[in-house]
Amino acid sequence: MPETLETQAQLMQEANRLYGCLRSVSKTKITKWTLEDCLQAAPYTLAINRFKQEKNAVILAHSYTTPDIVYGVADFRGDSYELALKAQQVSADIIIFAGVWFMAETAKIINPSKQVRIPAGKAGCSLADSITGSEVQKIREDHPGVPALCYINSTAEVKAQCDACVTSSNVFDIAQKMPGQELIFVPDMLMAQNLEAELKRRGTPKKIIASGGSCCVHDKYRPEQVEKLRADYPGIRVVAHPECPIEVCSLCDYVGSTKGMASYIASSKDHTFGMLTEFGLVNRMEAEHPDKQFVWPFGICSYMKKNSLINVLEALLDPRADQIVSVDEMVAAAAKKSIERMFELAK
Ligand code: 13P
Ligand code: SF4
Repeated sequence: MPETLETQAQLMQEANRLYGCLRSVSKTKITKWTLEDCLQAAPYTLAINRFKQEKNAVILAHSYTTPDIVYGVADFRGDSYELALKAQQVSADIIIFAGVWFMAETAKIINPSKQVRIPAGKAGCSLADSITGSEVQKIREDHPGVPALCYINSTAEVKAQCDACVTSSNVFDIAQKMPGQELIFVPDMLMAQNLEAELKRRGTPKKIIASGGSCCVHDKYRPEQVEKLRADYPGIRVVAHPECPIEVCSLCDYVGSTKGMASYIASSKDHTFGMLTEFGLVNRMEAEHPDKQFVWPFGICSYMKKNSLINVLEALLDPRADQIVSVDEMVAAAAKKSIERMFELAK
């Protein structure tokens, strides 16, 4: 077969592979992925999958990145806890972390001999950007003897100031294990309210000392969205991330991490789910449960969406300086203790 025809055949085969995963997935609120969209993605996914083997790289992708990354090129997909664990175990030379900066920074801290590259460059996060290490130090000085937890959505400097970090999949259990009646929890004030309520519900109440950050995606949901979902879709199950306001969470059927919501949906016999979370998780559920219906009012993380097939390829072949993750050694050593403490406490 002439080389050009073989290439055309390979492209078509790759487009069909992608379309097999993405045919039931929303591309926007009103459109689905088409075979033509997949044909446009195919040259990139083919090249990335070839070069990642040549370069001995693995690609980790958070569920909030786009589905062409999640299903086209990622070796592992998951929430921030799953990806942190995976990053610790990687033996390849290069980790391409399709996510936001604090996630890639965490991967570098726990597996420092690897080259960690982030396609999106310095992609922030409204939570991680809301507080500095010295502000946490000041809170600790104001509350001597009070243990401090930080959400993983924080900088290495913040992690370095805390006793342990947590993710949304283990925050309630780890907080319950901390000594004393008071607990510092930064930087998510809405998760702090949910945490205080959950600890009270479990019969192990604590006063939570919080800072003022919030997720600019999840803090937008209101009780009216839950009420409208229930009115429009009788029998709907509504799931939410604990970064949402407490008045919203208290109306939902399930509140938990990205992985927790996915597991709840996978094990449920119900058909229709209201998704008070980022579009990427909606896309994953559409791909993995084409027989179920997902209703999503809104919610896109512009930081996560800075990752694209084009900059994954760039990070793999010829990374820009801002795509290469490095962390100050002293800060990394202290932050590593807080991340490793999470791994111990989460067992
Ligand atoms: P998960 O830990 O559930 O992946 O959440 C991370 C995040 O950034 C949610 O907005
Ligand atoms: Fe940060 Fe919110 Fe984006 Fe998650 S969804 S990365 S918490 S801004």
